[in-house]
Amino acid sequence: MKIFIEKDYDALSKKAFEIMKETVSKNPQAVLGLATGSSPIGLYQEMIRDHKNGGLSYKDVTTFNLDEYADLPKDHPESYYSFMHTQLFDGLDIPEESIHIPEGETEEDARRYDELLKPADLQILGIGHNGHIGFNEPGTPFDSHTHIVELTERTREANKRFFPDEEVPRFAITQGIGNILKADRILLVASGVDKAQAIADMLKGENPEVPASALLSHPDVIVIVDEGAGSLIPEKN
Ligand code: F6R
Repeated sequence: MKIFIEKDYDALSKKAFEIMKETVSKNPQAVLGLATGSSPIGLYQEMIRDHKNGGLSYKDVTTFNLDEYADLPKDHPESYYSFMHTQLFDGLDIPEESIHIPEGETEEDARRYDELLKPADLQILGIGHNGHIGFNEPGTPFDSHTHIVELTERTREANKRFFPDEEVPRFAITQGIGNILKADRILLVASGVDKAQAIADMLKGENPEVPASALLSHPDVIVIVDEGAGSLIPEKN
């Protein structure tokens, strides 16, 4: 695992874009694993800025998102489908048929997404306060596949800011940790001091109570944090 501590969110996002650029320049048909949430928004803005300035084309990539709320219509403004289009896809040239976002609320829907999935050349990840990756909450087996999850109170609380006037969804469909680990390379981004404990816990050794610690077994993981999220990383890393 390589760890980069950048001075702030802007620097972190630029560094993350360098890795994205390297991947897509080397292989224009790359399979990209994508995440939602606030952490990768800066990276996505860098991708759009570069693309609009005549940089990279994404017309030949294929994308697979990590997760989606199960009990929310796709066209809801807070669905991950809406988020990805607003924050990234509307600004790039990826054909709609090359974009995959899980949907559905049954294990059968999950199995279908699993069959579609191709291992990512580059998988983007954020990390939850409890160390979750995708919606794999503490205790999820490290070899899990796409499945339906009931969200923890902590995760629902964290997502409440997006649902001021209605109930936060209870269920999600998510790629499993086993799917995530199949990626060739994984890039995890985290910013802000409220993520510092999760990052420190991830580094303590593999522990099913900290889903992100599964990444310690992967041969090519890049972690980019800002000074806040990196503030509890022990010296030896
Ligand atoms: C989103 C996802 C989640 C988020 C995590 C951090 O697709 O998979 O694991 O990455 O909840 O969210 P933010 O970045 O909003 O702090």
